[in-house]
Amino acid sequence: MTTKNEALQAWVEEVAQLTKPDRIHWCDGSDAEYKELLQIALATGDLIELNKETHPSCYLHRSHPTDVARTEHLTFICTQNRDDAGPNNNWISPAEGHDKIDSLFDGCMQGRTMYVLPYCMGPIDSPLARCGVEITDSLYVVLSMRVMTRMGKAALARIERDGNFVRGLHSTGDLSPERRFIMHFPEELMIKSIGSGYGGNALLGKKCHALRIASWQAKSEGWLAEHMLIVGIQNPEGLTRYVAAAFPSACGKTNLAMLIPPATMPGWKVWTVGDDIAWLHLGEDGQLWAINPEAGFFGVAPGTGPKTNPTALNMLDHDTIFTNVGVTADKQPWWEGKNKSEVPVIDWKGNPFDPAGGPAAHPNSRFTVAARQCASASERMEDPAGVPISAIVFGGRRAELAPLVFEARDWKHGVLVGAAVASETTAAATGAVGVVRRDPMAMQPFCGYNFADYWTHWLGFAEKSSKLPKVFHVNWFRQDGNGNFIWPGFGENLRVIEWILGRCEGTANAVETPIGYMPAPSDLDTKNLDIEADTIEALLSIDPAAWQKELDDIRDYFNKYGEHMPRALWDELETTREALEAKL
Ligand code: GDP
Ligand code: PGA
Ligand code: MN
Ligand code: MN
Repeated sequence: MTTKNEALQAWVEEVAQLTKPDRIHWCDGSDAEYKELLQIALATGDLIELNKETHPSCYLHRSHPTDVARTEHLTFICTQNRDDAGPNNNWISPAEGHDKIDSLFDGCMQGRTMYVLPYCMGPIDSPLARCGVEITDSLYVVLSMRVMTRMGKAALARIERDGNFVRGLHSTGDLSPERRFIMHFPEELMIKSIGSGYGGNALLGKKCHALRIASWQAKSEGWLAEHMLIVGIQNPEGLTRYVAAAFPSACGKTNLAMLIPPATMPGWKVWTVGDDIAWLHLGEDGQLWAINPEAGFFGVAPGTGPKTNPTALNMLDHDTIFTNVGVTADKQPWWEGKNKSEVPVIDWKGNPFDPAGGPAAHPNSRFTVAARQCASASERMEDPAGVPISAIVFGGRRAELAPLVFEARDWKHGVLVGAAVASETTAAATGAVGVVRRDPMAMQPFCGYNFADYWTHWLGFAEKSSKLPKVFHVNWFRQDGNGNFIWPGFGENLRVIEWILGRCEGTANAVETPIGYMPAPSDLDTKNLDIEADTIEALLSIDPAAWQKELDDIRDYFNKYGEHMPRALWDELETTREALEAKL
């Protein structure tokens, strides 16, 4: 199979000349092809078959031990003008970037097969969807992209019809961190990634295309590409409202997207539309409409258990690719928090498990599974128009400071609330874990251009519509002095979402505070919740002196953006400071 699209044909030939593969395989995305490639992956050891009885069609992939998470320090945005990438990104010029990375691609596929994967991000018939083509020499990437995107024939047909597509070139190279780079050329709609097989670095449709390149496209075309889950919340009266929420990696998106209402909240239902990425467009009705560009979930395994996320656990017992989890004696996948009665015998590196040597599953071990396997999958997941968003929720992991929930005064203040998100780092990226860092809109690793221009773009929506969603901030991760979480989280988070939707409907009460509107303890439904009144009080109060320090930190952070900073964010910050000072 080749293509009628001459630009695509020429690019594939050009890449083949550079990388010198033994064979070229154009993927059609069929079941037969998937089965055939699976057999090859089993033969090469890229995948290991798990217990056929308990986990039919489930496979384990072990990545190189130095290649287990996104590598932000090796990720670049290559724009003509350095300012366009902004202080939030690593930058080198496009000419230098191509030179440097092409020298690594030179001959890198010798002895290997080069796979050409046409894919579509978003429902194939959606005007909001966008296509790309990834060229890769990794079977794990091919098989994962088949799960995570609409990959194959239909995508190629759309590319041939529309003409445009994002180009992504990937090779695992020699997996050496010294020769690992993830480069983006937004002006050319191009991605080049070498030296890593890790999902976020190698499944180019996901972070590289659907966030970094798409955020750039979205700016010039008037929409938003965001690191957000999309969830439908159905109340006991049967009314469903959609919420989009941006939390940094490993801070609870997949869990919230698949939440199971607590037994004490009968009649509520939760419908999953997406768990990681949302593309948001203004509809003719002035509302923000969201699609999930992905077709699968690439979720964090540790912590996924029968109490925390049974919906996820239940979808993982067939047709799932696991990466870097442990294995039980009878070849079932295992990770911390999965199931108390099972024990791991092999760790994520493939060695006999020794508890002294660390966890059995890597803290950033993952599952890759088709969205249709999710019991709570929304019937609107495939809707070409997407779903209308009532509330945007920002959040992060903050042991201290950030209350359980607060509401922004209006859209502009909401942009400040998003821009001021900070969160403790997690195992989803290499580097120290548990360090608070600024992560605006949970997009620090993913915004494909200057954050200041991005905030200006966000602020601009206020001029275009008066029906924008309300904006909120949540924190499920407050801790006591002993490092215990003081909010039960998971299913109980629905109580907070109930208040949020009540605010959108105009039925829930709030008190005004310097940082925004907050529920008084009596405004939050805590019926049958096993929690002390003091704890609720602590979760719903703010410490003005600590917040004053936080505002100083936000100011110092914004100062890095110099003249690019939109005036409106400084004004919002000043308004907050004045309100706080009145309380001190
Ligand atoms: P994502 O990477 O943003 O999709 O985050 P996940 O939903 O996969 O969650 C990452 C980790 O945080 C997992 O170990 C979860 O068990 C844990 N987690 C998710 N939601 C909560 C919560 O409400 N409270 C607490 N304490 N942990 C949570
Ligand atoms: P996550 O997705 O947000 O679910 O962790 C992967 C990532 O962000 O690297
Ligand atoms: Mn993510
Ligand atoms: Mn997730």
